[in-house]
Amino acid sequence: MAQLWGGRFTGTTSELTKELNDSLPFDQRLWRQDIRGSIVHARMLGRQGILTGEEADHIEEGLRGIYEDLESGKLAIEAGSAEDIHSFVEMVLTQRIGEDGKRLHTGRSRNDQVALDLRLFVRGACCEIRSDLLALEETILHIMEQNVHTTMPGFTHLQKAQPVTLAHHFGAYFEMFRRDVSRMSDTKERLNECPLGAGALAGTTYPLDRGYTAAELGFRCPTRNSMDSVSDRDYAIEFLNDLSLIQMHLSRLSEEIILWNSNEYRFVEIDDAYSTGSSIMPQKKNPDVAELIRGKTGRVFGDLNSLLVTMKGIPLAYDKDMQEDKEPVFDALDTVSLCLKLMNGMLKTIRFNDSVMEASAKHGYTNATDAADYLVKKGVPFRDAHGIIGRMVLYGIEHHKPLDEFTMDEFRSFGPEFDEDVYDAIAIRTCVDRRLTKGAPGQQAMEEEIREAKQWLIHECDADAPHS
Ligand code: ARG
Repeated sequence: MAQLWGGRFTGTTSELTKELNDSLPFDQRLWRQDIRGSIVHARMLGRQGILTGEEADHIEEGLRGIYEDLESGKLAIEAGSAEDIHSFVEMVLTQRIGEDGKRLHTGRSRNDQVALDLRLFVRGACCEIRSDLLALEETILHIMEQNVHTTMPGFTHLQKAQPVTLAHHFGAYFEMFRRDVSRMSDTKERLNECPLGAGALAGTTYPLDRGYTAAELGFRCPTRNSMDSVSDRDYAIEFLNDLSLIQMHLSRLSEEIILWNSNEYRFVEIDDAYSTGSSIMPQKKNPDVAELIRGKTGRVFGDLNSLLVTMKGIPLAYDKDMQEDKEPVFDALDTVSLCLKLMNGMLKTIRFNDSVMEASAKHGYTNATDAADYLVKKGVPFRDAHGIIGRMVLYGIEHHKPLDEFTMDEFRSFGPEFDEDVYDAIAIRTCVDRRLTKGAPGQQAMEEEIREAKQWLIHECDADAPHS
């Protein structure tokens, strides 16, 4: 097995130490980033005269061959063949091109190398998640456009509160995921600095051109302090924080879908493709996908917490604890990306029971506030109006009647201010459409919100150019 540090040792590493120490089983996922970084490093060494042009070319050629062979499957990363992905690539390179392979690591440490690899990986992952988010936003926007007139109860305390529309309800999720998209951009922006050239911790005596490697690898600039460069994992924690927020949003949406899909609500029906059955109860169609998205949230929050705790006691600069940074990042990325795609598919195929939602708004006294406002307009002080409508709701519950189905006599028995125009004033649709403040569910306000959302989405999708 390839070790990069045998010279100082006389004894051998114990098997258990190897088991603990080796990161190849998981950091092999960074092979593309690792080779890419090495190619640029070698090129820079050649340009600076630290290696000869031939040596640098030879190394680059060798690295390209390894890249192609790993891509095609011709070369496999065998378990136990090296300590980590960095050793593996250097080992194969030296086997293939001989002496020159051993010159690649000039002016570099695995500490700045791994810091670069993970930054490159997280940068790509931000783009991946961003695309998943934008695809989901497109589906949500479509639901919004289709449902400007689908009234439903809006809830607080999970009690029916005031009538809204399905478009408005989904508009709230659109906003949550919009913030998530912008968080991806923020995180990517802050990690857009290249640590290569920081060395083990204190830079190097070789005349490296850090500006060149940074630019070649698509970074805005090199990082500054070399100790910080090798010991910073803030960007990975930020990314995990962003993913945790996304997953929290997905979990809340899942919770609503589970409730809405329940026999009691029947607001939606989840497509067969996103449900499963019971081995014993033939009638069951369970919302497992939504439940699992909700369930995976614990795992993603755990990944964030895991890296936060790992980092909290690490003295400067690099310590091996930091090898523990990768698995949480991979795990959370895979989980959130899968959940975003599943939520998208589930929402694309879900059926909304408009009539059930509308009836629920009508039979839940969601127009009670509007009925009180009606009395206020007729001159009754709001506090009295609140009391009157409260008594009417009590009466309605006893007689199984929504407010807008009271007879005129019934209305009048609660107050002489009631007139025929009350029916129109408290019709559910009227209650929704009168809510026209910016961000409210009324048709005009909602259409404005949709227009703006659409513009934003088009702009973001245009900016979603293929990443480097
Ligand atoms: N596998 C290591 C990691 O992931 C690479 C860096 C090793 N550096 C060292 N000083 N041992 O962190």
